[in-house]
Amino acid sequence: MKPKTILPSRISSLAKLNRMLRQENYADAKFFIIVDENTFTHCLPVLVGSVSALEQAEFFEVPVGEEAKSLEVAAQLWGALLESGADRNSVIVNLGGGCVSDLGGFVAAGFKRGIRYINVPTTLIGMVDAAIGGKTAVNLGNAKNQVGFFHQPEAVCICPDFLDTLHDVDLESGFFEMAKTLLLSDDKAFDELITAVEGCKSLPLDVVKRFVPQCVDFKNCVVGADLMEKSVRKILNLGHTFGHAIESFLMDCGQPLPHGAAVGIGLKCELYLSVKKIGMSEKVYDSLCRILQTFVTVPKFSLRDTEKIISYMHQDKKNREGLILCVLLQEIGVPVIDVALDENEVRDALLKASKF
Ligand code: GLY
Repeated sequence: MKPKTILPSRISSLAKLNRMLRQENYADAKFFIIVDENTFTHCLPVLVGSVSALEQAEFFEVPVGEEAKSLEVAAQLWGALLESGADRNSVIVNLGGGCVSDLGGFVAAGFKRGIRYINVPTTLIGMVDAAIGGKTAVNLGNAKNQVGFFHQPEAVCICPDFLDTLHDVDLESGFFEMAKTLLLSDDKAFDELITAVEGCKSLPLDVVKRFVPQCVDFKNCVVGADLMEKSVRKILNLGHTFGHAIESFLMDCGQPLPHGAAVGIGLKCELYLSVKKIGMSEKVYDSLCRILQTFVTVPKFSLRDTEKIISYMHQDKKNREGLILCVLLQEIGVPVIDVALDENEVRDALLKASKF
């Protein structure tokens, strides 16, 4: 069944979720809410205050950020669910950003061979990307998303007011997933977004909120066409072949960067190669660079760093026959999937990315 996307209209998303959970198919369900320290404080009271079916829900708190996405934390949650009498009719509600929904979805996919779950994303990355599409995963060490399942949520409840609780750095991190979506889909909207944020010291929330529904619709459309990422869904990896490897490398160095910021640097690398290899206009690359410079401090990579990043890129799930495969853009709205890169091109893009 297609997951339900709950967006606000005249009625708030949480009121719609409340209505949904009062339906027959949830009548005997036990609910378990997964939170982290931040969403426990800022979002849980709002959720249970608005959704009466969740008033009695048990909640489990997991570490903030990537630390939550481990097999150990997943095993603790499976144990806690068992102890609390969860059964196949139980429902997990993931209240948090991408790390909470990746982990909570993974736990739901594995528990008793799969139970229902609902994502209530509270970060921009969660709303426009991570909570949608049924990709669930944990990391193996610093290698991201190495173990996981495709397991679709029952519903994704988008409540943009949760963005008011975010720190600037988390909003900025989500911004690059939003920019990615518009690069893949809509040149006018991309220009509008860039113009609206250019020169701003911090991201204007009203601008960001305005583009959320468009990004949600686009992601739903892509996932609806290719849930298992056999073809068109691969386009959503724009910025991620480099981004994930940079993120893992920086984690190894003890200088972790938020996922979206790493994707921002990944976008810079991949748009640079898009210009060089398939003739994308430099104007698009320049716009992205200006925004990246405003919101992200790009680390300076040495030649030795690039070797380590390349070795992470060789672990990418999308690779085939030892080749590093990547998404590039011919122009905005025209992505090209499965472009093979040689190591010299990767090295060149990484060195270029750390220079302004
Ligand atoms: N985040 C990329 C995807 O969901 O396919």
